[in-house]
Amino acid sequence: MPISVETKRIAPPKRLIYGPGPAMVDPRAYEAMSQPIVGLRDPYFLSLLSEIQSGLRMVMGTDNKKTFVVPGSGSAAMEAAVANFVLPGSKFGVFAAGHFADRLSIMGRRQGATVVRLERPWGEVFSSEEAESFIAGEKPDVVAFVQAETSTGAYQTGKNITAAAKKHGALVIADCVTSVGAMPVELDAVGIDVAYSCGQKGLSCPSGLSPISISDAAWDKLAARPSEPYTWYLDLRLLANYYEPPHAYHHTPSPPLVYAMHQGLAVIEEEGLRNRWERHRRSGQRLVEGLQKLGFQHLVKNSEDRLWHITVVAPPAGVDEAKVREALMAKYGIEVAGGLGQLAGKILRIGTMGPLASDDSVDFILEAMAASL
Ligand SMILES: Cc1ncc(COP(=O)(O)O)c(C=O)c1O
Repeated sequence: MPISVETKRIAPPKRLIYGPGPAMVDPRAYEAMSQPIVGLRDPYFLSLLSEIQSGLRMVMGTDNKKTFVVPGSGSAAMEAAVANFVLPGSKFGVFAAGHFADRLSIMGRRQGATVVRLERPWGEVFSSEEAESFIAGEKPDVVAFVQAETSTGAYQTGKNITAAAKKHGALVIADCVTSVGAMPVELDAVGIDVAYSCGQKGLSCPSGLSPISISDAAWDKLAARPSEPYTWYLDLRLLANYYEPPHAYHHTPSPPLVYAMHQGLAVIEEEGLRNRWERHRRSGQRLVEGLQKLGFQHLVKNSEDRLWHITVVAPPAGVDEAKVREALMAKYGIEVAGGLGQLAGKILRIGTMGPLASDDSVDFILEAMAASL
């Protein structure tokens, strides 16, 4: 099909993206993406990558040397974690209370592992007693949990899980796709071995590059892995080589995405990570209070277990969530999301991340929601 006159230049509609991800991109990341590309071993490019590694250690709360980016969206980093650390024939324990824990389980199965799951209703989190009895009973080689379950709005640091995992010698993978840049991740303090994230949520970048961080102990295990992982593109040992001299070519990175991530992290460093968390906490609280006044109910009953920057609510009786979303888009150009899987048609997921985590942005969406019921 020939490219039409209208599409020869790109002019996307201006949207206010109040979804659970992608989130609004920071203007500095947009500006950076229009800069010229350089080669993959250009000293300037390598210095940006090294600064990205430091910035990622800061937002992920870790000293892990092996902290870098994987090409692809959050699922690529998830697959890298699972494909490298969950061996064929091993036992993989998944703490399952949402859509993304299900995705981890599917990936584990595809790696040829026996997947065992501790399930809780969606919107709930796991206690240390549950984690202990699950891990002691099943004795998995690796366990995985989702720190910020985007499908339900539930948050758990993982402390309840890491203590039991350490006691029984299981490696811990944490999905931090939605927590990084918006809420405490604290890999080292929590005791997480392998964690991955994405660009398009708390880091206010477009999707396409995804952070991953691996502890020294986990790296030693990977180095001693008896077989090569089936994946070549997401082989972490090959990917990590590029970050060390002589920066061996593995794949061709995308400079605009690297520039964007550099700026996303620089913006966080300038604001101060704790200030940024606090801004997200305050806006989330303001949004929840406003939505409760409009008759919405939070899916996560315990307020301590709620994500600050993604609010998952059931609409008041008689209100169709799809109609609310349509009205928000038609009248205001606002995007919010509906539910995934078993929550489809039942809930709304509203993100107040990065540039939208402010009193004004929260008040604006609350007014728009009130007018769309
Ligand atoms: C918790 C969680 N894990 C994994 C993913 C997958 O990330 P992506 O859609 O970037 O592949 C998402 C995406 O929303 C997510 O929220």
